[in-house]
Amino acid sequence: MKIFIDTADTAELEAAFATGLVDGVTTNPSLIAKSGRDFKEVTKEICSMTDGPVSAEVASTDYKIMVKEGRVLADLASNVVVKLPLTVDGLKACQDLTEDGINTNVTLCFTANQAWLAAKAGATYISPFIGRLDDLGMDGMELIGDIRALYDAHGYETEILAASIRSTAHVQDAAITGADVATIPPKVFNQLFGHPLTEKGLDAFVKDWASTGQSIL
Ligand code: G3P
Repeated sequence: MKIFIDTADTAELEAAFATGLVDGVTTNPSLIAKSGRDFKEVTKEICSMTDGPVSAEVASTDYKIMVKEGRVLADLASNVVVKLPLTVDGLKACQDLTEDGINTNVTLCFTANQAWLAAKAGATYISPFIGRLDDLGMDGMELIGDIRALYDAHGYETEILAASIRSTAHVQDAAITGADVATIPPKVFNQLFGHPLTEKGLDAFVKDWASTGQSIL
């Protein structure tokens, strides 16, 4: 499973990319607003930090304007993926931009039927929102499994990009359930590495090695 980081904060992205384990980035209008920066500037900066895909979302809800906005976003950098909402207009725009050769990420997906329509529209990625379903007491991970089964049954190549990740359990379960990508908030990404027993065990190794008085170098 590929790891994308879900933020427009370039300082957090720099730290995440330094691990060598990050494959791409997703942003959305809320994350751009949170950055407090010009969307073109911050999107271009993020695209310069990686060769991997960087999702940048349209602002309009109108089909024709979404297509225009998508072309503007795609022109910012070669690794921009245009993010579109899962609506009739969004899927119409997805088809036009796909015909242009522009990669797309259809977002705000909450049912397998929606994911099926996005695949038929040629979406490069589909973003099912796990956390927002869980927030309503529903089973967001079940949606990942349903989309995986539907796509595999019909040979759709759209990549399942697990989104709205709230915990390390979401990441692990998304990987086990067959998501192609997980887009992870920086805080959750950093939590993936640690475990108290790892820290305790390493402290013991360091202490015991020091007691030998030896050096490998
Ligand atoms: O960026 C798309 C998705 O990851 C948003 O997550 O936490 O706003 O539900 P969240």
